[in-house]
Amino acid sequence: MSDLIDVDLGDRSYPVLVGHGVRSELATVLPDGVRRVALITQAHIPWTVDPGVDHEVITIPDGEAAKSLTVVEDVCRQMARSGITRGDVVLGVGGGVVTDVAGFVAAVYHRGIRFVSVATTLLAQVDAAIGGKTGVNLPEGKNLIGAFWQPSAVLCDTETLATLPPSEFRSGIGEVAKYHFLGGGALDALDLPAQVAACVRIKAEVVAADELEGGRRAILNYGHTLAHAIETAGGYDLRHGEAVAIGIAYAAEVARRLGRIDDERVAEHRRVLAAYDLPMMIPAGLGDEELVALFAHDKKSIDGLTLVLDGPEGVQPVSGIDPSVLVESLAAVR
Ligand code: GLY
Repeated sequence: MSDLIDVDLGDRSYPVLVGHGVRSELATVLPDGVRRVALITQAHIPWTVDPGVDHEVITIPDGEAAKSLTVVEDVCRQMARSGITRGDVVLGVGGGVVTDVAGFVAAVYHRGIRFVSVATTLLAQVDAAIGGKTGVNLPEGKNLIGAFWQPSAVLCDTETLATLPPSEFRSGIGEVAKYHFLGGGALDALDLPAQVAACVRIKAEVVAADELEGGRRAILNYGHTLAHAIETAGGYDLRHGEAVAIGIAYAAEVARRLGRIDDERVAEHRRVLAAYDLPMMIPAGLGDEELVALFAHDKKSIDGLTLVLDGPEGVQPVSGIDPSVLVESLAAVR
């Protein structure tokens, strides 16, 4: 059984297919008239796909190191040498790194060619592969170069989740926990494919409402301000989803101090994070001043200190928060 979710962007709308074995549907979702496919993947990805047309496999390095302009140039040069044209397609098969790099290659090669994604990690399925954010890192920071480039189709094959290393799974499950507070409700009561489909449905709705992150899309960064600060400070053995979980617990504390939510709602945050066995405490060794200074560097910070917070009208970006509230709330997650 599979779920078909539409990301409604007018004439750029696209389907997201979620379910066990859906990668076998690849040939049916390739855009019409495609003659060749540049299939971008990584050596450790254990999944093969059959696009049903002539294809060239291009392997990028493993890990975050692949998200560089040098890798983008290498991939584009391989595509040029093998004669990939504007009528052809870039296909990404892998997790968030593959999605980000392959999508960016598709956005810039020949000024933009079509892109299809087969997402093989939980993080990619519930977040990175949906919504058209693509890009690479600079030595100065993560994702500082990129483009919005929507795919033509996304396949979230939940069969691939069975082989994920536990740490990779935890990275994705932190993002799943986030969707509880973005209208998902009791997602933890569903089986995993149904959880993925529910997350995709929420993300599709948010992206359709605010493709270029003019406002509402920022809610997808719930829990991410503290998470990014912890990740930027570095040296902590935490996966992205685990850092997001700590960030969610923290955001609930800030929201309670601002009178936006009550104790019961804070307890609900903790219950959900505990249900997924996610951490809620900041790792030792990170000082308040260092963290608050890093909040101000968050790319999403629009106007001084902006955090995405829960409240009576749901999760929303909130600006102008008194730094003393930010510091006090840190104590509650230590
Ligand atoms: N990962 C957040 C977004 O797609 O907007």
